[in-house]
Amino acid sequence: MIGVFDSGFGGLTVLRALHDALPDRRFVFLGDHCSGPYGNRAPDEILALTRRATGTLFDLGCRLVVLACNTAASTSLRRLQQDWLPNAYPDHRILGVVVPMVEAVTGMPWMADLPARPAEGRPQTVAILATRQTVLSNAYPVEIGKRAPWVKVVQQACPRLVDLIEGGAGRDAMAAMVRRYVDDLMEKLEGRAPDVVMLGCTHYPLIQDLFAAALPTGAAILSQPDLSARSLAAYLDRHPDLDQPDSAAPQRFYTTGDPDAVSRLGSVFFGRTVRFESISTARRIDGADPQVASLSMA
Ligand code: DGL
Repeated sequence: MIGVFDSGFGGLTVLRALHDALPDRRFVFLGDHCSGPYGNRAPDEILALTRRATGTLFDLGCRLVVLACNTAASTSLRRLQQDWLPNAYPDHRILGVVVPMVEAVTGMPWMADLPARPAEGRPQTVAILATRQTVLSNAYPVEIGKRAPWVKVVQQACPRLVDLIEGGAGRDAMAAMVRRYVDDLMEKLEGRAPDVVMLGCTHYPLIQDLFAAALPTGAAILSQPDLSARSLAAYLDRHPDLDQPDSAAPQRFYTTGDPDAVSRLGSVFFGRTVRFESISTARRIDGADPQVASLSMA
C-alpha cells in the first residue's frame, strides 16, 4: 500500500499516472482539503501539515508515501527525510515529485557526483510555473543548477490559480488567469520561448490545455505525472521490500475536507467516480509540535 499526498485535488493528476503505470499496486490518496491550498502558507506551516498528513498515511499502513505536491516536496521533503523519518519512522520512506522533473530536464540521475556536460538537444532555457512557496524555495533552480549549471531557469509564481481550481471556477476565469501569469513569464524571458516548461504544481495538469494555449508554440510542457510514475516504478524495482503488489485490494481516497463536495469535484478531475472518506490528521497533534498545535486552533 503506497500513500499519495497532496494539499488538495492536484495529487490526483499524479495518482492517475501511477495507476496507469502500476496497475497491480494499491494506492491510498490523502488530500488535505481542510488546510489547503498550501502554496501561500509559511514554510514551517507547510512542513507541519505535511508531516502530520504523512504520519497519518504511515499509520494507515503505508510504508512509502509520495508527496504529490510540489509545494510540500520543495519546502519540506528534505527536512522530513533528514530530521523526522530516522527517529519517528526509520523503516518508512518519503518520495517527492521534484526529483523526477530535475532528472528529466538535466538528463542526470539525482545521486550523480559530477554535473552533466552540455549536450546537443538538451534544454537551454527552462520555465517553471508553480505556487509562491515552490518558487520561493528555489528548489528547482538550485537542483537544476547543481547538475546542469549552464541551463537558464526562469520561475513564475501563480499564487491565485490553485484557489480557482479548488473552488471549481469556470474555464474562462481560469484561462484569463493563466494568460496573465504566462504573460508575466514571457516578459521575464524577454519574449523568447523557453525550450521546456515545467508545470511545477500538480494542480496545473488539470488545466494543461489552458497553459498550452497561452504558451508560445515550441515550448514543450513536461508531464510531471508521467515522470513521477516512471520514477516510482524504478524505485519499487530497487526497493521491493517497501511494497508488495496487491491488485485485488480497493484504492482508498481520504480527505480532511467535506467528503461529498470533494468526491464531486474529485471525480471530475480524476476522470472517474471516486468516493472520498473523511479523515482527520489533527489527532496527530502533540505538545511537542507547537506549529501544528497553533494550526489546529486557526
Ligand atoms: N498541488 C500542489 C503543488 O504541487 C499544492 C498547491 C497548493 O496547495 O497551493 O504545489
